[in-house]
Amino acid sequence: MPSCFEEAWISINAVVSSEHSVSYAEARLLYLLGCYTILPIVELGSYQGRSTAFLAYSSSQIVYAVDEFFPEVFDTTIASLDLKNVVKVCGDTLRCSFLKKLPDSIGVLWIDSLHTYRGVIVPVEVLWPRVDYIVLHDVWDSRYPGVTRAANELEQRMRVIARIGSILCLRKR
Ligand SMILES: C[S@@+](CC[C@H](N)C(=O)[O-])C[C@H]1O[C@@H](n2cnc3c(N)ncnc32)[C@H](O)[C@@H]1O
Repeated sequence: MPSCFEEAWISINAVVSSEHSVSYAEARLLYLLGCYTILPIVELGSYQGRSTAFLAYSSSQIVYAVDEFFPEVFDTTIASLDLKNVVKVCGDTLRCSFLKKLPDSIGVLWIDSLHTYRGVIVPVEVLWPRVDYIVLHDVWDSRYPGVTRAANELEQRMRVIARIGSILCLRKR
């Protein structure tokens, strides 16, 4: 296992492409959140498992990786990096009945799935009582005005911890 973020960055980039994934600074924030949380992590939108890997490498907690469709490379990423704390969960993040099956306590809810207003707000509302940190990706991207709108609303209800790259990291007040 890598002993620091820089080692994780090299290992992860050797096995999975950075396509549609996080930048260096964003990955470092996920890695730090993984280090600090004492509760399970839920990732909505895993794709090839790259952001999953930054969270899972640094955390002793289970990382629930949620996607409606996992490409084959997801399994390769997790196996190549020997990440034993990743649980794959297949489902649609707009379905409340599905979201309710996720863990009762969530340290970090990382949202990078459907880039619309509902794609952010539906899981936030369903999981709100259980979460500590909410972390959004692609917040200030003009292609995703719904994500920006959802982020602006959440900023009114939560404490802003960090704005790094296109990530907004929020904590309940
Ligand atoms: C940008 S990719 C995630 C990238 C990943 N977080 C990373 O940084 O490496 C978005 C993913 O969200 C998934 N997705 C989109 N809409 C979804 C939905 N309604 N429910 C579940 N997954 C969804 C897509 O299948 C895709 O794999």
